[in-house]
Amino acid sequence: MAFEFRHFLDLGDAGPDAIAAMIADAIDRKEARIDLPKGRADADQPLAGRVLALVFEKNSTRTRVSFDIAMRQLGGTVLILEAGSSQLGRGETIADTARVLSRMVDAIMLRTDDHAKIEEMARHASVPVINGLTDRSHPCQIVADLLTVIEHGKSLPGLELAWFGDGNNVLHSVLEAAGLMKFNVRVATPAGFEPSPEFVDMARAGGATVTLTNSANEAATGADVLVTDTWISMGQADADEKRRAMEPFQVNEDLMALAKPDALFLHCLPAHVGEEVSESVFESDQSVVFDEAENRIHAQKSVLLWCFDRLG
Ligand code: CP
Ligand code: NVA
Repeated sequence: MAFEFRHFLDLGDAGPDAIAAMIADAIDRKEARIDLPKGRADADQPLAGRVLALVFEKNSTRTRVSFDIAMRQLGGTVLILEAGSSQLGRGETIADTARVLSRMVDAIMLRTDDHAKIEEMARHASVPVINGLTDRSHPCQIVADLLTVIEHGKSLPGLELAWFGDGNNVLHSVLEAAGLMKFNVRVATPAGFEPSPEFVDMARAGGATVTLTNSANEAATGADVLVTDTWISMGQADADEKRRAMEPFQVNEDLMALAKPDALFLHCLPAHVGEEVSESVFESDQSVVFDEAENRIHAQKSVLLWCFDRLG
């Protein structure tokens, strides 16, 4: 290898110090380019000449656009490979795809279903591999979420974050972050839709207090941040039974009224307004969902720099 690199498959690959450094660097870079057009490179262009391949086996808007703009701002470029129009979609192995892409590009971001596929990609790639979402986790999203919470004046240690609805991939990365960054998570799900115990144990082992409840009101009471996500993630069966079970977990004005008066509402998007969140909350002053979406760019820049050992 001609350069030092790291994979970013989950937040634990980076650890608390690197995550704190990512957030600090994202804040600095965001501030430094406030008046620049979005496609203009940062003054130092730390990834000049580097090419990132964005490989998608699932749909995306934010991840796709934010990685593209992030690379441009760092001085690099991207190319996009959709499974349906590449040989991946015809059964070429992940291992061979990893080895071929490693000869042609400097880093690979993969959005896929089975987490084992991204582990396989990382095993066979000789360039950094970044998790752009799997069925198990969504670490890039959570770097942006932590950045958003901090930007809005909250500090992570001791923060009370409440999650409502499905115990899914995004929640898993929230839980992993909680153990690393020492904040607490109240998880309100219907019975049978809890997060994987592996992530709950991870958070608790790191010192976070994790409360699992079937009461949305219990989770919301006194919370600093309220978070939800789609009830039906990509690749999941859209069952009426699941939707009915999720209905009591909608984040609405009644739930927000139980939280701290300055509580924030986060959602990774895309949202299904009227389902997991009411329109009144989604459009309220407490909702920071579009700051959160923009922060995908700034967070991704830090993730990329960390992968290339160029952070800070
Ligand atoms: N939040 C998120 O990852 O959005 P996309 O699915 O649009 O990339
Ligand atoms: N949990 C959602 C997140 C989308 C960004 C999904 O996996 O579809």
